[in-house]
Amino acid sequence: MRVVLLGTAAGGGCPQWNCACALCTAGLEPRTQDCVAVSADGAGWYLLNCSPDIRGQILGTPALRAGPGPRETPVRGVLLTDAELDHSLGLLMLREGGGLPVSAPETVLNGLSPLRAILDGYGSSAWTSTFDVPGLRVSVLPVSDKKPKYVSSTQDGPWVVAYRIEDPATGGVLVYAPCLKSWPPGFDAFVADANLVLLDGTFYAPDEMAGVGGPDQLAMGHLPITTSLARITAHPGPRWAFTHVNNTNPALDPASPEHAAVRASGASLPPDGTEYTL
Ligand code: MLT
Ligand code: MN
Ligand code: ZN
Repeated sequence: MRVVLLGTAAGGGCPQWNCACALCTAGLEPRTQDCVAVSADGAGWYLLNCSPDIRGQILGTPALRAGPGPRETPVRGVLLTDAELDHSLGLLMLREGGGLPVSAPETVLNGLSPLRAILDGYGSSAWTSTFDVPGLRVSVLPVSDKKPKYVSSTQDGPWVVAYRIEDPATGGVLVYAPCLKSWPPGFDAFVADANLVLLDGTFYAPDEMAGVGGPDQLAMGHLPITTSLARITAHPGPRWAFTHVNNTNPALDPASPEHAAVRASGASLPPDGTEYTL
């Protein structure tokens, strides 16, 4: 299985257009918004989430470029972990390929009703809550009840899931969990045999948003790295990599002590474009 990190930043990316904080102005390697591409055979690719940056992410990744036919694309479908805009707005950018299958839990599909209504005018997408990726085995773990801000529904969750994707041909296992409010029940077993876990790295510390004037960080539903590092060190098996990193996270700076602490735990903060073969 091939895994390409198309984008590794949280909503807004880094730098964020309306932010002049120390990190956004530090001249760090830019990061686009969280999105992953996976493929069993290198020919057909599935997107895990669909970021607003998807057009540039596809054009910047040779394996995802269109061809060989004039309107052929290797992008076969999308699996969403949640209904957040940074994970779903890219579906609007892919409207030219009307009919792309999109898989997500029922709650997430309901939350996305306004966006689905728009997209269905461009060619009816196949919206489903079954998770089929040819050549790979997908399992889904509900991880959080954190709803996007724009959703008024009182429907019970799960509003966020994690994916475990296994290649039966190689035994390689990827876990993708970019939004974790807590270390969820069942997560230890879910990652037990994983080769690579892409984990929520939004915030390093629990009080980071205060530095840019809020909003309430706790309500955003992201377990800080300071908490997850302890769990990671208890699980030395898989390779751990943080993604969905917010532009407030000091670990983005390779010269920071926070970055050093992540590396010391054996985890990484891979940049956009990182590729793994599992
Ligand atoms: C999140 O991950 O918490 C959301 O994407 C925040 C947002 O951009 O609304
Ligand atoms: Mn997000
Ligand atoms: Zn900033």
